[in-house]
Amino acid sequence: MWSYSGSSALNNEFRQASELALEADRADALGGYREAFIIDDPSLIYLDGNSLGRLPKAVPAVIERVLRKEWGSTLIGSWNRSWIPLLDRVRTKLALLLGVHPVEVVVGDSTSIQLYKLSLAMARHFNAPKILTDARNFPSDLYVLEQVARDTGKELVTAERPDQLSVSREFAYGSVSHVRFTTGERFDLGELNDQLPMLWDLSHSVGVVPIDLSTSTAAVGCSYKYLNGGPGAPAFMYLQRDLHGALENPIPGWFGHDRPFEFESGYAPRPDAQRFQISTPAVLSLAAMEPGLDLVLEAGVSVIWSKACALTALFIELIGSFIPEVVNVTPIDPERRGAHVSLAHPEAWRICQSLIQHHHVVPDFRAPDLVRFGFSPLTTRYCDVVAAVNALRRVLDEKSYHAIPSVRPTVT
Ligand SMILES: Cc1ncc(COP(=O)(O)O)c(C=O)c1O
Repeated sequence: MWSYSGSSALNNEFRQASELALEADRADALGGYREAFIIDDPSLIYLDGNSLGRLPKAVPAVIERVLRKEWGSTLIGSWNRSWIPLLDRVRTKLALLLGVHPVEVVVGDSTSIQLYKLSLAMARHFNAPKILTDARNFPSDLYVLEQVARDTGKELVTAERPDQLSVSREFAYGSVSHVRFTTGERFDLGELNDQLPMLWDLSHSVGVVPIDLSTSTAAVGCSYKYLNGGPGAPAFMYLQRDLHGALENPIPGWFGHDRPFEFESGYAPRPDAQRFQISTPAVLSLAAMEPGLDLVLEAGVSVIWSKACALTALFIELIGSFIPEVVNVTPIDPERRGAHVSLAHPEAWRICQSLIQHHHVVPDFRAPDLVRFGFSPLTTRYCDVVAAVNALRRVLDEKSYHAIPSVRPTVT
């Protein structure tokens, strides 16, 4: 039973919320999925699966097999026997998850590289002079788009609300993150797709929010968040079929060649999105990525999303009732948010560290003033939500964050 450390007037209400949370956990159809992940310390309340998802139990044996049997024993023969089929399988599973055709999906590189290739290709293909983005887009996306605009003589327009801009024919395309990494706000894909060709960054929605790409031109995303693919896991891109012959990969590599093993000196790109491959796939990372993807496909994104809605709604409600000192910057309407909730406070960094160091609750910090709580539904319980709110209440009551230095390490 969790105990609320605040005033006795609110104590009963909190106790009631704790009991309801335990009941919700008992009834949770996804509750068993925690068993599919390595959870060495059950007392750790991990609310950072939106940054790095937990390790699926199946991964170590998969890696052991790739190392010992494939690399160690079968050696080069593993390319045909195991590794090219692995690449095709992961691509097909991602396509299934995204509801698109496998020929429209490429797996590999990082999100920033996939974004660079597609943005530059789109900037070269669509003639209009401007590119639209969200002023609060992920920094790497902004850097890439800025560079692409410079290199193609276009203007990058950074809008505070790209979905509220009346978009004219001056725009070649737009590139926006489906869910903002800071506030967790979610844009409506269809709304912007109706106005201009869109290149979406799905990093904060893939695997947790149902995504309908039917009217989108292109998309990229990472697999180390809700897909639990592991640190630096391969990213992916989607390119709508009508544009396959029209867009050129600005980094033409041999893996995007139509006949890579003919070793021709002239570049002849593959007819489908595979022309956006560059290099030899990173087999170990690719192999580590498959079990997480399997778990999401098995559980089903619509079921995962229902639980994400319930977890985030519970958190928002409890924060509203018990933690008046923070400002919730995430939309209340579940249709306008993803699966993380961000709270603003001037002492966000030290509060975040106090939660980790003194209470074993792991959110993350996003400068300048946000504590971000991610609710990855396959591994997060309703009682974790209550425990996190309880811990936050204690940190603020006891002012334990005063003992935390303001200096920050590299990764926050
Ligand atoms: C929305 C978004 N886009 C892009 C990236 C960068 O991804 P990568 O390091 O794979 O280039 C991140 C990283 O967290 C992200 O959250």
